[in-house]
Amino acid sequence: MRVALGADHGGFRLKEIIKGHLGAQRVDVVDFGTDSAEAVDYPDYAAQVSRAVAGGAADLGVLVCGTGNGMAMAANKVPGIRAALCVNGYMANMARRHNNANVLALGERVIGQEVALEIVDIFLASCFDQGRHVARVNKIE
Ligand code: RB5
Repeated sequence: MRVALGADHGGFRLKEIIKGHLGAQRVDVVDFGTDSAEAVDYPDYAAQVSRAVAGGAADLGVLVCGTGNGMAMAANKVPGIRAALCVNGYMANMARRHNNANVLALGERVIGQEVALEIVDIFLASCFDQGRHVARVNKIE
């Protein structure tokens, strides 16, 4: 599985932790930055990660900003992207199983590191349930 990662300055530190976590699991990670705590604009990183996922260069995306809100809003403007802002593992599981989410948005200033990594692990391990959810997800498109 290939995972595209992106963050602004508000999510840079957590993004680096997630990158190390996934690397230790031998997940193929593509890091679109940012690479420092210098202020940048989150839509630029949401666009890069979302286009990688929508275009098939990555299977899933993870975006981190201060709250996760801006990343989710920006990512969901890209056709084919279903970005879910998650604050716990249940939301991450349901986002994949019921909504077929393909991008996870996290807020570094909102959740702790251990919870964030749990969310990431659950998001990557969960799959779309198909069935009755297919027609509903198609209505989003
Ligand atoms: C940056 O200060 C902050 O606005 C950004 O990281 C994010 O939380 C926006 O949604």
